Amino acid sequence: MKTKVTKAIFPVAGLGTRFLPATKSVPKEIMTLVDRPLIQYAIDEARAAGIKEFIFVTSRGKGALEDYFDHAPDLEASLRKSGKTDLLETLKETNMDSGAIAYIRQHKALGLGHAVWCARRLIANEPFAVILPDDVIAAEKPCLQQMVEAYEETGGSMVAAMEVAPDKASSYGVLDVAQDKGNTVSVRGMVEKPAPGTAPSNLAVIGRYILSPKVLNNFNKIEKGAGGELQLTDAIAEEINQGRDVHGFRFSGQRFDCGSKAGFLQATVAFALARPELRDELHDYMTQMVSMQNAAQ
Ligand code: G1P
Repeated sequence: MKTKVTKAIFPVAGLGTRFLPATKSVPKEIMTLVDRPLIQYAIDEARAAGIKEFIFVTSRGKGALEDYFDHAPDLEASLRKSGKTDLLETLKETNMDSGAIAYIRQHKALGLGHAVWCARRLIANEPFAVILPDDVIAAEKPCLQQMVEAYEETGGSMVAAMEVAPDKASSYGVLDVAQDKGNTVSVRGMVEKPAPGTAPSNLAVIGRYILSPKVLNNFNKIEKGAGGELQLTDAIAEEINQGRDVHGFRFSGQRFDCGSKAGFLQATVAFALARPELRDELHDYMTQMVSMQNAAQ
């Protein structure tokens, strides 16, 4: 029987420079889509997939994340006193069982691969998930849960994958596909941020992974890669060189790149329109805006 995936790593050490000046004092992961921080979406997805241990790889200035997942006795007491039980209920989403959450510091910004490697002692010898909170995925069945189900069949290591426009491939890790089986593809190579025109396919890696613990040993074998950083993609590709299986998984759902302003705004609109209490007002406003814009042209 395959070991269940119960640990997930959340790399949250990035400076979020694309969102300066906001990220000067607010961690990017605390920025909100409607009223929930990006990190809450990632945690909800992990919980739905059966994750029990949450490992954050952080850096200086990310204290707000630790506070977010802590109990807030004064706030809770005041809500209780004023009978705001619905808000108390909402706050429960932010509570973690004691010992279920761990914070590790990435002392140097050496890349995503290095961030994941920093958590190696907490992972030890179990398969584990990695969730990049910038990639928000709206889906009927949460993406990581879809992957866990597929992984139960395939084993090995698995990355979420999505077709992207050929001129966008150089922003991603890209899969070299050996065999396309529909939802899953078996992978014979992976390239991080291929130079324009050199991508082996248009199937890009999206920030959800289920990895064999052996990937962590590969960091001893690989060199610095794209952007002079230690790349997770390269450590996973090394699994293939070692003769072990790597699969891409085409998830169902809509992915938003919340690491970019345009993606963040699109996600905000999509999640707001999905809220019954906001939908009508926002829809009317947007219709009005569009007709005003059209009239002005
Ligand atoms: C990271 C990964 C890349 C992946 C992407 C998905 O890149 O290194 O392989 O395709 O996330 O969002 P980043 O966006 O951090 O540059």
